Amino acid sequence: MSTSPQVIANRVPRHVAIVMDGNGRWARARLLPRLFGHHRGVEAARRAIRYCSRAGVECLTLFAFSSENWKRPEEEVSGLMALFMTVLERETTGLLKHQVCMRFIGARGDFSDTLQRKIAEVEAETRSCGGMVLQIAANYGGRWDIVQAVQALVREVQVQGLDPSAITEPMLEKYLSTAEVPEPDLFIRTGGEQRISNFLLWQLAYSELYFSDCLWPEFDEKALQQAFDAYANRQRRFGMTGDQVSRSSSHA
Ligand code: IPE
Ligand code: IPE
Ligand code: MG
Repeated sequence: MSTSPQVIANRVPRHVAIVMDGNGRWARARLLPRLFGHHRGVEAARRAIRYCSRAGVECLTLFAFSSENWKRPEEEVSGLMALFMTVLERETTGLLKHQVCMRFIGARGDFSDTLQRKIAEVEAETRSCGGMVLQIAANYGGRWDIVQAVQALVREVQVQGLDPSAITEPMLEKYLSTAEVPEPDLFIRTGGEQRISNFLLWQLAYSELYFSDCLWPEFDEKALQQAFDAYANRQRRFGMTGDQVSRSSSHA
């Protein structure tokens, strides 16, 4: 029996999660301000959204701002907030046209009232779109997500008078900010770093990890295709043996 990784033709990930890293270094290499790199990063994000939507991806999660990114210089943080606002104002029409449903995950209460209102508006406007779900992780942290889910679960446990030993993984999962979408199949991080940086900690348990040295503003359709091809050539075993997986997929 073959032990080589199984190739399933046209295997498209249902959920792709991307850490869009490298904007600052891209700009610095060109002696430009870091914010210029973030502006270019928006173009790369638009490319990725279009590509994934056309490929039939059900959900795309983009890490736009981590709960730790507030530590950056004030000028960069306020520039990013202004950029979020501009992008939201500009992109809603395109999202509606392509039936992309946009949702935000993260502690949105820390954003300005204006930005929070805009976020709610875009979510409401695209709610009934039947195409790809686009999740923007903004002021997001994987630890934050788990803690807020635990808080909600503890409330449920108290109200229902449940014994803690009755708590199961699905019970916690239903309170995670990503409860409505499947777990990421493919995790991509650009920019050469090989770390999670507090992204979807719980949800990445069995995702295929793909790291690229390419800086985010330069991550184009060809680079995305390479990531998808790499994914299609992986054998996902979920704890089983390779032979077990081969047998079950040949019976599918
Ligand atoms: C990622 O690019 C975008 C955000 C964190 C908002 P960086 O800004 O982290 O770029 P580098 O890592 O400094 O190059
Ligand atoms: C992760 O990138 C967050 C986003 C891409 C939004 P960072 O650039 O903030 O990660 P670290 O600090 O290098 O780990
Ligand atoms: Mg970075």
